[in-house]
Amino acid sequence: MRINAIAILLVLIPMSSISSFAQAENLNLMPQPERVVRREGSLAIDGSFRVALEGYTEPRLAAAAARLVRNLSKETGIPMNDRPEPDGSKATLVIHCDHSGEAVQSIHEDESYELEVTPQQARLTASTPVGAFRGLQTFLQLVAPGPAGFSAPAVEIKDRPRFPWRGLMIDVCRHWMPVAVIERNLDGMEALKLNAFHWHLSENQAFRIESKLFPKLQEMGSDGHFYTQAQVNEIIAYARDRGIRVVPEFDMPGHTTAWFVGYPELASGPGPYSIERHWGVFDPAMDPTRETTYEFLDKFIGEMAALFPDEYFHIGGDEVNGKEWLANPRIVAYMKEHGMKTTDDLQAYFNQRVVSIVEKHGKKVIGWDEVLHPGVPKDIVIQSWRGQKSLADAARQGYQGILSSGYYLDLMHPAWQHYAVDPMEGPTTDLSPEEKTRILGGEACMWSEYVMPENVDSRIWPRLAAIAERLWSPKQVKDVDSMYARMEVESRRLEFLGLTHRSSYLKMLDRLAGFQDSQKLKVLADLVEPVKEYGREDARDYNSFTPLNRLVDAARPESIEAREFAKLVEDWRANEARIRKVLTKWRDSTVELVPLMQRSNLLQEDLPLAENLSSAGIVGLQALDYLDSGKPAPQAWVEQQQAMLSQAAKPQAELLLMIVPSVRKLVQSAAGNGAP
Ligand code: ACM
Repeated sequence: MRINAIAILLVLIPMSSISSFAQAENLNLMPQPERVVRREGSLAIDGSFRVALEGYTEPRLAAAAARLVRNLSKETGIPMNDRPEPDGSKATLVIHCDHSGEAVQSIHEDESYELEVTPQQARLTASTPVGAFRGLQTFLQLVAPGPAGFSAPAVEIKDRPRFPWRGLMIDVCRHWMPVAVIERNLDGMEALKLNAFHWHLSENQAFRIESKLFPKLQEMGSDGHFYTQAQVNEIIAYARDRGIRVVPEFDMPGHTTAWFVGYPELASGPGPYSIERHWGVFDPAMDPTRETTYEFLDKFIGEMAALFPDEYFHIGGDEVNGKEWLANPRIVAYMKEHGMKTTDDLQAYFNQRVVSIVEKHGKKVIGWDEVLHPGVPKDIVIQSWRGQKSLADAARQGYQGILSSGYYLDLMHPAWQHYAVDPMEGPTTDLSPEEKTRILGGEACMWSEYVMPENVDSRIWPRLAAIAERLWSPKQVKDVDSMYARMEVESRRLEFLGLTHRSSYLKMLDRLAGFQDSQKLKVLADLVEPVKEYGREDARDYNSFTPLNRLVDAARPESIEAREFAKLVEDWRANEARIRKVLTKWRDSTVELVPLMQRSNLLQEDLPLAENLSSAGIVGLQALDYLDSGKPAPQAWVEQQQAMLSQAAKPQAELLLMIVPSVRKLVQSAAGNGAP
């Protein structure tokens, strides 16, 4: 290693300034490593790139090294040899791993690594293969094109995660997600150092996994779209190769209609049952009062516990409305007989029985926060989704927990909002140090009512990267502008790894435009976002068969273009020329867009958005004219424009035109004719 004066100086800089130094140098690392020290020079990356493995090795490590080379080749467009170089001194990147990791990866797996890049060679050292996987992703992110070709800057990185549980849940029930969708999202998870894939496998709308003991579950409950056990094994192996645990969820006793199509005897109502085609919370629930229910679950959970190696098993437990229980006189009599006052008490009894079955099969239980009842065994993990308070309550009562409240990707919130949610802040701030150790991390959730394979990536990525950074990086890493800058780079890179969030957006716009040039449509599409939270539920009566091919399905959850326009308007004086150019483009966009939209049945509902965008362009330009004139805009004009903008701010075709607040700022400035 070459030590020079600059390097010695940098080592003495405290960590916070080291991190900002890394940002200033435009190292597009995401999540930010715990410690980065920039050295002088860089390592050239060209067609001679080779990897060598030293120390402990195993097939998945060798596979990860070869995958790194293939991904580097994809990202650079340079053909490369992905076979290991036997002579470490000739390799560009040397991976040194100390020993094997856990036979079944747990939350205690050592994921730390150190990466040193010099102008001569890069060296990655880790205790375990999983640590090496994390470091390989960092190395890949370091490589960027420069004036002298592709290179990785000379750095010294020491890194490890802040939280041991950093997950993504995908609901594969409301809409079917084939193996390829899961695998490409596992690739994305690996890139962002996430380590837990939570697989929501059963619901009212589908039962998505093959049971050999109870085949009517998938045969009658899935429309033929389910994972065979061979495919499940393939996905588990695929995830393990990337240092990702797979936690299956079988949501019970509610969210179970699809089970009852083939096995109505499990249910509390008289049946018959059919697959639920709508979204929402429904009445059907398992019958907690019959021993036959537990005999069934014992066999079923035994089968699934043997299939999934992870130590955790998710039993759901959310959103049981109790209606089917109260409608059954036999169940009501049972509750009375056993002194159960509410359906919550009955669910607590059910949970207790199921927890002991899961534990009998050698697993630990995880459940949504509704499972937190007095008397539930302390070794279960609470997944907090209804608010961060349940995470704090659980930790105080001795339970471990993970946070999902604030990380629901399906609610279409911007990345900064997820980024601001910290498992250790808010209601958990006051926990004792011991209680805090019970907070294991967090999980983003992708519920699939409004997504299909075509657009699910665009609802997960790139915003998941912001959550991944929150869960991996030191707590003080929270510069939002830096996060966005790095997230946008990562977003583009993820497409090279096989994600489709950017390419699919363009495809969907092409379809909307009748396979004509969709450039004009993109001007509008770039500036709209789907309504937030559960707004789509209220807008129309959706079901499993509703087409998801409208502009609202193509539009990204967060408009980066609108965010950038808002930044320009913050300092309109400095940015006036650029703002005028953008406003002019909007003003003129309708000329070609409106005829295109009028021709398409799919786009007619979006015509008001196009008109509003054009009006916003006109008004913005007028506001700038008033501002330039030095005289306040006439009151009547201001009122008229404010009214127009209030109309334009309303949802249209389940979409929001995101530039309205910025144009309103310009109008307000023109009214006062001072600086905004
Ligand atoms: C949930 O969102 N019902 C866990």
